[in-house]
Amino acid sequence: MTVGGIFISFEGIDGAGKSTHIDRLAQMFREQGRQVTLTREPGGTPLAERLRAMVLNDPMDAMTEALLVFAGRRDHLLQCIEPALVRGDVVLCDRFTDATFAYQGGGRGFDLEMLSTLERWVQAVQGQGGEFTRQPDLTVWFDLAPEIAAQRLQGARVPDRFEAQPLEFFKRVAAAYQSRMNQSPQRFAQIDAGGTRENVWDAVRLALVNRGWLA
Ligand code: TYD
Repeated sequence: MTVGGIFISFEGIDGAGKSTHIDRLAQMFREQGRQVTLTREPGGTPLAERLRAMVLNDPMDAMTEALLVFAGRRDHLLQCIEPALVRGDVVLCDRFTDATFAYQGGGRGFDLEMLSTLERWVQAVQGQGGEFTRQPDLTVWFDLAPEIAAQRLQGARVPDRFEAQPLEFFKRVAAAYQSRMNQSPQRFAQIDAGGTRENVWDAVRLALVNRGWLA
């Protein structure tokens, strides 16, 4: 069983149903004696949570949106994620940079090369061997057809700036997640999020067991 810090992110279109599984994983890791840092993006620190409220609610253009999510990410990484990994925690992060490629890149059509540049700048951290680009050790992608996600979300709550988007937007977001996975297949666990909650949970748990992180 791995003892050092582990960084796991969770992704998927709105309505894919990540939350209950993230909570359940946190509980399972704790039961197995691990310290867990449960966090999210946009957000995760007081500064980044303030940026989150703007990104989700205030009208702005795609570049402003991309810069704000990366600004929040820098703070979140330095104040929360890196210290947690140094302590040896399991960091469970509800969304990370793949969401930026999916939503700002795929959904909004923002320039992917600029996102890649920002990714390299923002995620540059110091390690024992010098500077490197921090990435999740594993990204659990809850893959769900946008049509089904839309049905699940119907009437759930007052939609934010993303949840209010049309089906076409989420089709682009889903396609962008797929191409992010194709670029780094070893980092991803693609979960069929269309099954029952228990089936989805079994698949999530298995992905972590297969990596030797859960018994
Ligand atoms: P979400 O996980 O859906 O939060 P909640 O479950 O509380 O609604 O995330 C909020 C939204 O932020 C989601 O619609 C995706 C969007 N988002 C981006 O557009 N870019 C990003 O980089 C991130 C991290 C999230």
